[in-house]
Amino acid sequence: MTPAQLDAADPLAPFRDRFALPEGVIYLDGNSLGARPKAAEERVLQVVRKEWGEGLITSWNQADWIGMPQRIGDKIGRLIGAGEGEVIACDSTSINVFKASCAALSLAPERSVILSERGNFPTDVYMMQGIETLTGRQVRAQLVQPDQIEDAIDGSVAAVLLTQVHYKTGRMRDMARITSLAHRHGAAMIWDLSHSAGAVPVDLTGAGADFAVGCGYKYLNGGPGAPGILYVAKRHQEKVIPALAGWFGHAAPFAFEDRYEPAPGIARFLVGTPPVLGMAALEVGVDLFLEADMAAVRAKSISLAQLFIERMAPLAEAWGFALASPADPAERGSQVSYRHPEGYAIMQALIERGVIGDFRAPDILRFGFTPLYTTHAEVAAAVEHLAAVMEQREWDRPEHKQRSAVT
Ligand SMILES: Cc1ncc(COP(=O)(O)O)c(C=O)c1O
Repeated sequence: MTPAQLDAADPLAPFRDRFALPEGVIYLDGNSLGARPKAAEERVLQVVRKEWGEGLITSWNQADWIGMPQRIGDKIGRLIGAGEGEVIACDSTSINVFKASCAALSLAPERSVILSERGNFPTDVYMMQGIETLTGRQVRAQLVQPDQIEDAIDGSVAAVLLTQVHYKTGRMRDMARITSLAHRHGAAMIWDLSHSAGAVPVDLTGAGADFAVGCGYKYLNGGPGAPGILYVAKRHQEKVIPALAGWFGHAAPFAFEDRYEPAPGIARFLVGTPPVLGMAALEVGVDLFLEADMAAVRAKSISLAQLFIERMAPLAEAWGFALASPADPAERGSQVSYRHPEGYAIMQALIERGVIGDFRAPDILRFGFTPLYTTHAEVAAAVEHLAAVMEQREWDRPEHKQRSAVT
């Protein structure tokens, strides 16, 4: 089928109009920052004008600002196979990695290792190293090669911390299999779902996961810097005394007691005052996503990515792009990456043409496929732009080699 025919048969096509996308832009970076749902503007204005402007502090109760972390968390929970009361929207993903790792460690006081892979997203690894420095216990953050993770899980491991869909390559791990392997060795499993939530079907309950974290601003379209996600399986919640014992996680925050008493359930993993404006925008993105059928999202994601890889084949051959993502869609999330020594400059030239992807050092060009608003026609056109960038050596201009702060 042609891209136009694929788009005509696309059951998700009506979602496109729910997003504000600039004219003339082909956006292939929703894996980094999701596009803006049109409704987010109105909702944030409503919070600013009415709930904040008129309701002032009464809005904590009247507009249920206080309930946002749990309410939005439960909605996200439905997208990632969690039960009610197992997910909260709060803090950043980095902070939630810290909270989940400390919680997992506290469940296994006799064990000393948090295990992860080399090349994992840096914040996850840095948080492990931070915990190692901070803790009085002899915790060791251990990093092994990606293909050695399974062999490295043994009786010393308190927790395995892995990103399900790798941020550079898009390689997707088998969540159920690795979780059960960790459990067989008595280790807890912490999944970073930053590139999974809203990208691929996730079943935390089915996999038996212990903890999970994720980003709200990527595939969930929650807006720049949107609050993160924290999942703690019900069976662990009452056993953990949170490392970040904040007043929002207290059993009675407005009793203002001197002594910390953790709230029952997932609420104990809250720390401080939620960012209400960011929460409001996130909720719009999540609500929109809940209207979509995740199986259809996955099917279209694969269809977009396969079209991209197919159209890229002659360019890969002619210009030396090396596929850095698994060729098998079953092993890949919702992005496709290529390596090229001039990757940075090529991406800048592509962006100048209105095709927005991104670059990850040292040589990765990343293209994200977001089925709610990306079309097959755009994917085909993006490859044509890339061909022109290469044929006309547009990348070889000095301005495309100037590195910006964010790549
Ligand atoms: C896999 C992964 N984990 C964690 C993070 C960091 O999230 P934050 O900066 O929101 O703390 C990112 C950000 O891109 C990510 O891709």
